Amino acid sequence: MNKPARILLVEDDTAIVNTLRRVLADEGYEVKVETTGPGGLQVAKEQAFDAVITDLKLPGGLDGLQLVRELHGRHPRLPILMMTAHGTTETAIEATQAGAYDYILKPFEIPDLLNLVEQAVAASRLMSDPIEWGEAGSSRSAIIGNSPAMQSLYKEIGRIAAKPVSVLIRGETGTGKELIARAIYQHSDRAKEPFVAINCAAIPETLLESELFGLERGAFTGAEGRRIGRFEQADKGTIFLDEIGDMTPGTQVKLLRVLQEKSIQRLGGKESIPVDVRVIAATHRDLESAIRQKLFREDLFYRISVVVLQLPPLRERKEDIPALVRFFLGKYAAEFGSENAAMHPDAIEYLQLQPWPGNVRELENIIRKVLLLAHGYTISLDHVRSALAKTTPVLTTEGKSLEAYVDELIDAARRGDITDAHARLHEISERILLSRAISQARGNQARAARWLGISRLTLRAKLVQFGLHPDQETETE
Ligand SMILES: Nc1ncnc2c1ncn2[C@@H]1O[C@H](COP(=O)(O)OP(=O)(O)OP(=O)(O)O)[C@@H](O)[C@H]1O
Ligand SMILES: [Mg+2]
Repeated sequence: MNKPARILLVEDDTAIVNTLRRVLADEGYEVKVETTGPGGLQVAKEQAFDAVITDLKLPGGLDGLQLVRELHGRHPRLPILMMTAHGTTETAIEATQAGAYDYILKPFEIPDLLNLVEQAVAASRLMSDPIEWGEAGSSRSAIIGNSPAMQSLYKEIGRIAAKPVSVLIRGETGTGKELIARAIYQHSDRAKEPFVAINCAAIPETLLESELFGLERGAFTGAEGRRIGRFEQADKGTIFLDEIGDMTPGTQVKLLRVLQEKSIQRLGGKESIPVDVRVIAATHRDLESAIRQKLFREDLFYRISVVVLQLPPLRERKEDIPALVRFFLGKYAAEFGSENAAMHPDAIEYLQLQPWPGNVRELENIIRKVLLLAHGYTISLDHVRSALAKTTPVLTTEGKSLEAYVDELIDAARRGDITDAHARLHEISERILLSRAISQARGNQARAARWLGISRLTLRAKLVQFGLHPDQETETE
C-alpha cells in the first residue's frame, strides 16, 4: 500500500486550519500544521512533505511569499500551494514566479482545493518516486527488461541523461515513454529541480500556449488575467512535452522560438524572460510523415531530436515478458491486499505468444484482470485465456446517445478494460463534431473551422488524424 501523503499547512486562522485539517484527513492525508512563516520553514527543514499549503498573510515576520521563496530555494521539487484573498491576485502570480506550484483565491470551494492538492501530490511523487532498472526491487516504479533492446536503451540513457541535450522518445502506445522520460530526469544533473509534464494532446491549442508560455492580462478577449507558464515554472529544471506530435503548427512555431532563444514571451507580453529548461519530448506519431504532410515543422523536429530514443514494442522483446509478469503480479497483489501470486509456466508461455498491440500497458491490464479472476490461486492457462478473451470491448456510438456511450465508457473503465476513458470520449466527441460540421459546411474547411472557432490548420490536422481528410480540398469560401 502507498504511504499516506504528508501535507504541511501553514495558516494562522484557526477556523480555516480546523476545516482543512478535517477535510484533508478525510482524504487520507497526514497533515502537519504550523501557524507562522518561520515555523513552517523550520518544520520543512526537519521533516519530509509531499506538498505545502500556505496562507499569504502570516505572523512571525515571514509572510507566505517569502516562505515560498525560501522553501522553493531549498526544496525546488516540493510543490507549494498559496492561498490568498481576492484582490491580491498579483501577489499570487508573484508567488508562482517565486516557485509556487499554484495558488487558490479565498474564499474557495473545498473540492477545488482538494483537486489542487491531489495534483500537487501527484507531481511531487512523479519527481521523487525512484525508478529502478532491469529487475524489480521494492520500488513501485521500475523499468523491467534485460533483453538486448532494453539493455542498449539503458546504455543510451546512461550516456545522455546527464547531458543538457533535448531528447525525443519515440515508441508505440504503452511502450513506456513516460516512464523513460522520468528515468532520464532522475538521472540528470537536474534531478533536484522541478520536472513539469504536459500532455500536448489533452489541451486545446489556445490553452496550451498560455499553459506553456504564460499570459499577460488582456492578451486576448476572454483572457482572465496574468498567469505564469510552465516553461517559467520549470526554470532550471526539465519539461516533458508528451504527445508533441499533436501540437498544432502555430504552437510549434512559438516553441521553436523559445528553444532557439532560450527565453519566453508571455502571450500578449513584450518582455523576454530568460528560461533554462531541458526539454524531453515524446510521441507515438510518425513525425517524418507528419513533416511531409506539413503538420509538423521540420526545423522543430531537428531541434528536439538531438537525441532520439526508440522504445521497442513488446512483441520484439518477448523474452522480457516473464519478468514483466512477475513485476506486475507483485505490484497488484500488494495493491489488492492479496498474497504473492504465482503463474503457471504454460500461462506465461501463452502470454509470450500474444501480439500485444497495446504493449506493456496492455500486458499490465491483463495481469490485473487475471489476478482478480484467479482469486488468490495459482494463475492457470485458463485464467489467462479468459482474461484475454474479455478483450477491450469495441465501443461504438452507433445509434446511441452520448450519455449511453459515456455510461459504457465508465463501465468499461471500472472493469479495468480501458484506462483511457477520458481520451476516448474526447476523441469521439471531437470526431462527431468535426464530421458533422464538415458535412454541413459542404466540405468547406474554412467555413467549418470558423464555425467551430478553431484555425483551419488545426481543423486540417484533426481531419487527417481522424482519417476524415478528403483528397480534394475545397478552397473557396
Ligand atoms: N519496461 C517497463 N517496465 C515496467 N513497466 C513498464 C515498462 N514500460 C511501461 N511500463 C508501464 O506500462 C504503463 C504504460 O507506460 P507509459 O505510460 O510510460 O507508456 P507510454 O509509451 O507513455 O504510453 P502512451 O503512448 O499510451 O502514452 C505504465 O504503467 C508503465 O509504468
Ligand atoms: Mg504516455
